[in-house]
Amino acid sequence: MWFASDNAGPAHPRVMEALARANAGYAAGYGADEAMGRVTARLRGIFEAPEAAVFLVGTGTAANALALACLCPPWASVFCHPFAHVQEDECGAVGFFTGGAPLTLVAGEHGRMEPEALEAAAGRLGGSVHQPQRGAVTLTNATEAGAVYSPDQVRALARVAKAHEMPVHMDGARFANALAALGCTPAELTWRAGVDALSFGGTKNGLLGVEAVILFDPAKAWEFELRRKRAGHLFSKHRFLSAQMEAYLEDGLWLDMARTANAWAARLAAGLGRAPGVRLEHPVEANEVFAAWPRAGHRRVQAAGARYYLWSFEAPQAQTLEGGPEAEVSARLVCNWATTEAEVDGFAALLAEEAAVQSA
Ligand SMILES: Cc1ncc(COP(=O)(O)O)c(C=O)c1O
Repeated sequence: MWFASDNAGPAHPRVMEALARANAGYAAGYGADEAMGRVTARLRGIFEAPEAAVFLVGTGTAANALALACLCPPWASVFCHPFAHVQEDECGAVGFFTGGAPLTLVAGEHGRMEPEALEAAAGRLGGSVHQPQRGAVTLTNATEAGAVYSPDQVRALARVAKAHEMPVHMDGARFANALAALGCTPAELTWRAGVDALSFGGTKNGLLGVEAVILFDPAKAWEFELRRKRAGHLFSKHRFLSAQMEAYLEDGLWLDMARTANAWAARLAAGLGRAPGVRLEHPVEANEVFAAWPRAGHRRVQAAGARYYLWSFEAPQAQTLEGGPEAEVSARLVCNWATTEAEVDGFAALLAEEAAVQSA
């Protein structure tokens, strides 16, 4: 019962087979491999963006920070949600790679920034030499709280951003999950809604360690290339990154895996909903479930080997298994393409059983 992270899941066998095939003979290094040409063409086709510049990097942090460094000067601010990975989990990488740009936090429910809050935050910056200027907006889809932004919600934020002459970046570490949930096209969820640059996740969704950065306006392509090299993210044996991404895009594997992960999360949420005493904390729209239940239930599932994080965006320190059995403790449960029915149903059944014991 592994729900700790989609990072903890395996890579898909078709990706491993593609890597083995890519290992035959020689291929040009540093992104000049033929497979990278095919990946670029494939992503341009998928996104209906024939001019887009496409790059591969090894981590989501690099994808976000390098993309934002191209969009935001050092003296301006990047606007993001308080839950954003760039704020909470990237060790200040945006500040480092931009050369000092601070983050300005913009509130909203379930990890989604509100356009009115963005307007207010943007209105407070810029103009004076003493302040950070308005730089760029980054939004995460699916959000860190497992919700998704629809194309209209993205457009509403992009409208505010553009009114303040700010480009828009999307952290799509779970872009496939968002797209699978919405059923719209990749273009509708990105450049047609005003997104200028996308971190297109792969690692959480069945790759070994590859993310793409897609710049819908290629004007910054050369700058991105230089920044990627300087950051140590231009891989010499690049063919192995390309091979992973190519296999991911082949026959819609990326969307199939995301759909599967989302379906397990929906089933898990439904199972938890039937267990007395379990409360969902955020809407389950992608592959993550945020829920709270009494400590006794946590002890029961953990004794049975369940792996997940105790998790609260608001009060992380308060989520502990030390203390009385009735107190509610919050958790994050993440599904991936390899999650099984036995894990999902077994987890929910254990919680229901423990609730019955406690109420007896
Ligand atoms: C929303 C989000 N963005 C980006 C990342 C990528 O992070 P990493 O640098 O660990 O690949 C993650 C991973 O946890 C994430 O959840």
